[in-house]
Amino acid sequence: MTYQNPPTTPRKSATFDDYAMSEIRRAAATGIYDIRGSGAKRKLPHFDDLLFLGASISRYALEGYRERCDTNVVLGTRFAKKPIELKIPITVAGMSFGSLSGPAKEALGRGATLSGTTTTTGDGGMTEEERGHSEKLVYQILPSRYGMNPRDLRRADAIEVVVGQGAKPGGGGMLLGQKISDRVAEMRTLPKGIDQRSACRHPDWTGPDDLEIKILEIREITDWEKPIYVKIGGTRPYYDTALAVKAGADVVVLDGMQGGTAATQEVFIEHVGLPILACIRPAVQALQDLGMHRKVQLIVSGGIRNGADVAKALALGADAVAIGTAALIALGDNDPHWESEYQKLGTTAGAYDDWHEGKDPAGITTQDAELMKRVDPIAAGRRLANYLKVMTLEAQTVARACGKNHLHNLEPEDLCALTVEAAAMARVPIAGTGWIPGQVKF
Ligand SMILES: Cc1cc2nc3c(=O)[nH]c(=O)nc-3n(C[C@H](O)[C@H](O)[C@H](O)COP(=O)(O)O)c2cc1C
Repeated sequence: MTYQNPPTTPRKSATFDDYAMSEIRRAAATGIYDIRGSGAKRKLPHFDDLLFLGASISRYALEGYRERCDTNVVLGTRFAKKPIELKIPITVAGMSFGSLSGPAKEALGRGATLSGTTTTTGDGGMTEEERGHSEKLVYQILPSRYGMNPRDLRRADAIEVVVGQGAKPGGGGMLLGQKISDRVAEMRTLPKGIDQRSACRHPDWTGPDDLEIKILEIREITDWEKPIYVKIGGTRPYYDTALAVKAGADVVVLDGMQGGTAATQEVFIEHVGLPILACIRPAVQALQDLGMHRKVQLIVSGGIRNGADVAKALALGADAVAIGTAALIALGDNDPHWESEYQKLGTTAGAYDDWHEGKDPAGITTQDAELMKRVDPIAAGRRLANYLKVMTLEAQTVARACGKNHLHNLEPEDLCALTVEAAAMARVPIAGTGWIPGQVKF
């Protein structure tokens, strides 16, 4: 009998996986790099790698239906005459008009207002719908200055100086010609239908000293009334937080690499910056080292999805969180309801990220007059408010189980980690041990 080799199972490379190969083919065919929206899609250390311990004998739990667990937060207590009081520690992140449709921006304002929180403008300026329907609106000053003007600065409730974003720290965004409608062009005072790249750094400063001057100028223009936030992408969170504080920020907004963007290069989204889990403790440490923790508030963002994420971010020392992608999903983006239309675009509802093309079937990341009619701002705003309510209830549930009567009383000691990486980043022990990698425990 002759021996025959048994058939082997075809084996794909873990390095050259299907996605890597399709990207090589796409690059070879087109000669251009990939641009997309959304955040990092690769698996990264995240809040899922942490667990709350809950209470037992050594900790006393609070009764969910009878004992309070407060959720309010005040932002801008350092210098502003009129700090922002929020009912919940979840804010809506800055998302540009241009990347988002007018009705989507209105819905964000409505949802945030119903929930007692803020929404934020973005690149491209403030729309009337957004101002009109946002009880408390944060106005962004971005490197591009698109749509920026002193009148709107004064109509805002807080100012956010954007130095960077988690999805593209060190880079600027893109708004392609397809989305530059008459209205977007007019607000940005740029021609219709022409691709716009946002600058990667502010034109009038080159470092922290210039930031300090700029913040002082803004305070004077706004009569020292409005809190001034500084938004940074997660790169060197300890030093950047310390420098933002030194420059005079009332609030630091820290955005990790999972954070969404309207459009930028894929290589940026997936390969530059730090996951938010790795950013929070160094930022909190910087605030503590300066004696500024809880005096300069810290808002964190990047992949926040549910109340557990909120509670974990707060337990690590943040004062509040911001949501972008999740807010869009709550409005109705990437919804399987439009699956057949997503398929016509060569994708599927859950994976759609070509937000720069302006063809979003859900009418949210588009300027197409017909598509945007699909967003009912009132109903979408209610959905966002429902979602924010559920997240808050979830965070309270966890906090009570840890014996805390305010979400801000959550602390690192309530947490443990499932992986060595998460333990090192969050500086909490690995589950079932007292071991925090990288730290000596006494
Ligand atoms: C559609 C879209 C547009 C955005 N536009 C801006 C912007 O104009 N300015 C800005 O600072 N960040 C912008 N961001 C980033 C968000 O402010 C925020 O940092 C990020 O979405 C948070 O992460 P998450 O999406 O995982 O919640 C945008 C994000 C999205 C999804």
